[in-house]
Amino acid sequence: MLADKDRIFTNVYGYQSWRLDAARARGDWDNTKDILAKGQDAIIDEIKASGLRGRGGAGFPTGMKWSFMPKESKDGRPSFLVINADESEPGSCKDREIIRHDPHKLIEGALVAGFAMRARAAYIYIRGEYIREAETMFAAVQEAYDAGLIGKNACGSGYDFDVFVHRGAGAYICGEETAMIESLEGKKGQPRLKPPFPAGAGLYGCPTTVNNVESIAVAPTIMRRGSTWFSSFGRENNKGTKLFQISGHVEKPCVVEEAMSIPFSELIEKHCGGIRGGKDNLLAVIPGGSSVPLVPAAEIWDAPMDFDGLKAVGSGLGTAAVIVMDKSTDIVKAISRISYFYKHESCGQCTPCREGTGWMWRMMERLRVGDASVDEIDMLQQVTKQVEGHTICALGDAAAWPIQGLIKHFRPELERRIQEAGNMAEAAE
Ligand SMILES: Cc1cc2nc3c(=O)[nH]c(=O)nc-3n(C[C@H](O)[C@H](O)[C@H](O)COP(=O)(O)O)c2cc1C
Ligand code: SF4
Repeated sequence: MLADKDRIFTNVYGYQSWRLDAARARGDWDNTKDILAKGQDAIIDEIKASGLRGRGGAGFPTGMKWSFMPKESKDGRPSFLVINADESEPGSCKDREIIRHDPHKLIEGALVAGFAMRARAAYIYIRGEYIREAETMFAAVQEAYDAGLIGKNACGSGYDFDVFVHRGAGAYICGEETAMIESLEGKKGQPRLKPPFPAGAGLYGCPTTVNNVESIAVAPTIMRRGSTWFSSFGRENNKGTKLFQISGHVEKPCVVEEAMSIPFSELIEKHCGGIRGGKDNLLAVIPGGSSVPLVPAAEIWDAPMDFDGLKAVGSGLGTAAVIVMDKSTDIVKAISRISYFYKHESCGQCTPCREGTGWMWRMMERLRVGDASVDEIDMLQQVTKQVEGHTICALGDAAAWPIQGLIKHFRPELERRIQEAGNMAEAAE
């Protein structure tokens, strides 16, 4: 189990105040000027060496992403950092804890990361439903300005850096980085084709990097404690500590910071009081938020909770939002409900996603009650393959994968429902 001394988020449960004086007592904003004095390239090298990979879902190496930003502006365009606090993936609730209980970690991270990528300002894009969280964020940013930590000559470093908080209007798709940029510009939040990538032309046509809240908030601690400390946790290629969010049928759902690669069983037994009704009552787990395929009980139990470990069992770490389902779950209904979510959140500009998400959901609803033929299971599988990889953004994949996971692991259950519905219809005749 990760020792308390190795936890980055020491106020994740909000037992202490989020305010600046309390944050400082926890070690935030401690000689930030010295971190900046190391210079941009040294910060990027340290983050690269730490092995930190993006915590927003895709796991792209963070230091490398920062290094794509231009070292100097050839045409006078400024650079920007956009912090993704949209957190709308069902099951995901970790960024919220950072924002409402540890906002200064994020603001200090914004300065360190923004400075490293030579950004003029950071925009924190926060999901519309996070009303109290946005209030905390606004107030914490004001505290940081008042204390001279950000703004002109931030922390006395000679570097000018602004932080803006922007509230979204409650659309899941605005969590996709290019949709977020469009939305920040005041347009309809719809993804756009890449290239150009944001590092070339992002917010207001300027070089931009979009990072998740957690990716940014851990940066100052990595700089203080060193990349070797951070990379001492987790397996090769899966380094660091990580906020896991466990919901569903465990005794004690929670958000907890743990070492990457912790086995699923340990995470559940040590932090969540075990599976409701005991280990044998576990049916399946969605380990990385609603967009990743489910994993049946037998395959997840010993799996290391990291990028590679979950890929090996046909799923993904995603945002590490672990949704646990015991045997009382109607698994077809659960996946159908997820399909409804993606149908509802599709922005509608690509035909396979706009039409496919609705079609898949309607088919899932029929399968839920067995009102289908066995051939239609194969047809559904084919349709998921026609959506996957054929759309502008990954929402299409996110809608396809949960259904693929269901068919792969629970096809007998789908067939049983069809058989049962057929038998009942026959008996009624
Ligand atoms: C439909 C969709 C929704 C997304 N929602 C979020 C989100 O709420 N938060 C987030 O950090 N990343 C989200 N992402 C991923 C972002 O596009 C982007 O990869 C991420 O913010 C990069 O940050 P990172 O490199 O620090 O992980 C979403 C992607 C897609 C396709
Ligand atoms: S995949 Fe869906 S959500 Fe993404 S751009 Fe296309 S229609 Fe919009």
